[in-house]
Amino acid sequence: MFLKLSVLVILLVRLAPAEAQDLNFIYNGFAPLTGFNLSLDGIAEITKKGLLKLTNDTKQKTGQAFYPNPVTFKNSSNGTAFSFSTNFVFAIRSKNPNRGPGIAFVISPTRGLPGALPSQYFGLFNESNNGNLTNHVFAVELDTIQNTEFNDINDNHVGIDINGLDSVKCYPAGYYNGGLFKNLTLYDGQEMRVWVEYDGSQKQINITLAPIGFLIKPQTPLLSLKYDLSPILNQTMYVGFSSSTGSFFVSQYIVGWSFRINGQAEDLIASKLPKLPKIIGSKKRLILLVIGAPLMLVSLVLLGVFYVIRRKRKFAEVLEDWELEYGPQRFKYKELYIATNGFKEKELLGVGGFGKVYRGILPSSKIEIAVKRVSHESRQGMKEFVAEIVSIGRLRHRNLVQLLGYCRRKGELLLVYDYMPNGSLDKYLYDQPEVTLNWSQRFRVIRGVASGLFYLHEEWEQVVIHRDVKASNVLLDGELNGRLGDFGLARLYDHGTDPQTTHIVGTLGYLAPEHTRTGRATMSTDVFAFGAFLLEVACGKRPIETQGPEDVILVDWVFSCWTRRNILEARDQNLGTDFVVEEVELVLKLGLLCSHSDPAARPSMRQVIQYLAGDVALPEMVLLGLSSSGLTFAHHEGFDGYAMSYVSSLGRGFSQSSFVGESTRLSGGR
Ligand SMILES: *[C@@H]1O[C@H](CO)[C@@H](O)[C@H](O)[C@H]1NC(C)=O
Ligand SMILES: *[C@@H]1O[C@H](CO)[C@@H](O)[C@H](O)[C@H]1NC(C)=O
Ligand SMILES: *[C@@H]1O[C@H](CO)[C@@H](O)[C@H](O)[C@H]1NC(C)=O
Ligand SMILES: *[C@@H]1O[C@H](CO)[C@@H](O)[C@H](O)[C@H]1NC(C)=O
Ligand SMILES: *[C@@H]1O[C@H](CO)[C@@H](O)[C@H](O)[C@H]1NC(C)=O
Ligand SMILES: *[C@@H]1O[C@H](CO)[C@@H](O)[C@H](O)[C@H]1NC(C)=O
Ligand SMILES: *[C@@H]1O[C@H](CO)[C@@H](O)[C@H](O)[C@H]1NC(C)=O
Ligand SMILES: *[C@@H]1O[C@H](CO)[C@@H](O)[C@H](O)[C@H]1NC(C)=O
Ligand SMILES: *[C@@H]1O[C@H](CO)[C@@H](O)[C@H](O)[C@H]1NC(C)=O
Repeated sequence: MFLKLSVLVILLVRLAPAEAQDLNFIYNGFAPLTGFNLSLDGIAEITKKGLLKLTNDTKQKTGQAFYPNPVTFKNSSNGTAFSFSTNFVFAIRSKNPNRGPGIAFVISPTRGLPGALPSQYFGLFNESNNGNLTNHVFAVELDTIQNTEFNDINDNHVGIDINGLDSVKCYPAGYYNGGLFKNLTLYDGQEMRVWVEYDGSQKQINITLAPIGFLIKPQTPLLSLKYDLSPILNQTMYVGFSSSTGSFFVSQYIVGWSFRINGQAEDLIASKLPKLPKIIGSKKRLILLVIGAPLMLVSLVLLGVFYVIRRKRKFAEVLEDWELEYGPQRFKYKELYIATNGFKEKELLGVGGFGKVYRGILPSSKIEIAVKRVSHESRQGMKEFVAEIVSIGRLRHRNLVQLLGYCRRKGELLLVYDYMPNGSLDKYLYDQPEVTLNWSQRFRVIRGVASGLFYLHEEWEQVVIHRDVKASNVLLDGELNGRLGDFGLARLYDHGTDPQTTHIVGTLGYLAPEHTRTGRATMSTDVFAFGAFLLEVACGKRPIETQGPEDVILVDWVFSCWTRRNILEARDQNLGTDFVVEEVELVLKLGLLCSHSDPAARPSMRQVIQYLAGDVALPEMVLLGLSSSGLTFAHHEGFDGYAMSYVSSLGRGFSQSSFVGESTRLSGGR
């Protein structure tokens, strides 16, 4: 079989261009359904949840897992090695306090070498063949034990190994975030990402580590080494993982794996990965048992009683005749219930101004969705509201989060959206985020959101006023594109007509002054909010920072930097030095222009897009009456009267979340 395969591979190399069969796979977990066949050895196993468990708390064992087929790394036996790229997520759980051996990513001529020892050699070598040039082994060790015989630098490091465990280059485990080095502890039980990349033409190996929370690879690798792997790698090799337990009780997991020859391996998506078992200390386990067991019995009896009654009510929903025409947009409650695992806390993505948002997978189509539960009491205006939701569901733009449909229950409305794996933009901006976006990513998000909002205002058959543009309503898809979401407050009206007075809706800090005065939501009130959004993204701060004794109004502060002729001072310090001065300046100035207190002075979204594209230069702002003495933004003024009293009656803490004046949107009608 093996022989036939190799013959076939060689034949294919001859027949087809190399690109055509370059290996490329991504496995977010190894559940049987993914169609993944790892070749396992030693005590390695795939758990029911789809985790690759290399070792299982047993001493003196090896565990190995390899991609089952040989991988072509060269065009000919004496050719140059191809580029490759891989990333995976691992975790090391040790029963010994804070201790446990590590894992190695391996490329070797066979699925592991014969004669490997289950002690300190990662299940790869033994004392006689360690370091021998005939091994043809490339490995990346995630090493948690300091072995003086291999000249290890400490008990928590990452090393590049060629043919043996005396690393060619190594460095303490950690990662660079915005120029700062942060330590990581390999054996602390947490999930971590590893990227291994080899550039075949530059002959350079890069290794990068990051905690699981990192969505994107840190820009600076932990280890970078110029080394030609061509003499090491044979024409076909096996790729996989290897480890040995030595004298430790340790469980080592690989949670997901992506690999590619001649290209960038796709990044794993954290939310799709199978979950590791919870870490429970032995004391806690005992307490759980003692208290939990009797409690369990009581609840079981109670459950039995309620079960019959609850089952009937559980999936009840409200469906009226006029809704029948909305068939495709109408979801069954039961379907959403199953999709979100019964709206489990585990699936909770966030809590917004109007309700909780859950992640789910539709049972029929396997599409990933986000479900927002909005509570409402009154039925007044419901028909119009549902009609609007259905209209909004017809909007299609790559920078909008698709609204898929809705479901109605007594006292509750559920909105179903496309799921966005990378969550909302705000969490990358303020409060010392663990992950920040660099400037080019931010600028792309800004331009994307601008084009989404332009579509809503001018390109669709009706005018859509979003009414709640802000960073926390911008979601990032798998490719970090910004998408405007949460159409819960949006209004539609026909082109050429005047918007009607409505209840004031939106978020403080993003509300245009004339909106709070007249109660009219218009395209230029959206532009005002977009201005606040621009400043947020460029400055990494909220429009109103409530920390400290006094509120800091972001637009005032940026304005003051500008009058001091140093508008760049307002930029987010987390950007470091890697940004385009002209672009940051443009975004900050445009943010000020959009925040103008006179709606007529604000640009339209069409103009905003032209400015951002550099097609049209931003007008000189002094000409627009923005004198430093006048401060015509009059941002505070916007919060007088109605809105201000609202703030003072509810306290400051409220000012960051969406609110609706007086009555809710749902009961208000038009
Ligand atoms: C995985 O292995 C099973 C049985 O060993 C085989 O039927 C199946 O085709 C294999 N799948 C892949 C994707 O190789
Ligand atoms: C570990 O795996 C081996 C082989 O699969 C099995 O015999 C052993 O019982 C397992 N040990 C534990 C502690 O689960
Ligand atoms: C391998 O062969 C293909 C097709 O002949 C060629 O395009 C490619 O550059 C070669 N790669 C290397 C690393 O030599
Ligand atoms: C190296 O490869 C080339 C073409 O693939 C072949 O002509 C040459 O004989 C090979 N040399 C050796 C030493 O194998
Ligand atoms: C790997 O390549 C070397 C040299 O080209 C050769 O001696 C060795 O037998 C090869 N190993 C395997 C397993 O094919
Ligand atoms: C070490 O492994 C080699 C094969 O790689 C084997 O020939 C040798 O016997 C092993 N030595 C010991 C001491 O196990
Ligand atoms: C390396 O391994 C080969 C084959 O197993 C053996 O003949 C040779 O002596 C070894 N070299 C060293 C330096 O141990
Ligand atoms: C990181 O680890 C190194 C070596 O163990 C230590 O010297 C340093 O103080 C640590 N830094 C932090 C921030 O913990
Ligand atoms: C490795 O890192 C260096 C420095 O960041 C970078 O210039 C190079 O392109 C990287 N190479 C690969 C293969 O990722």
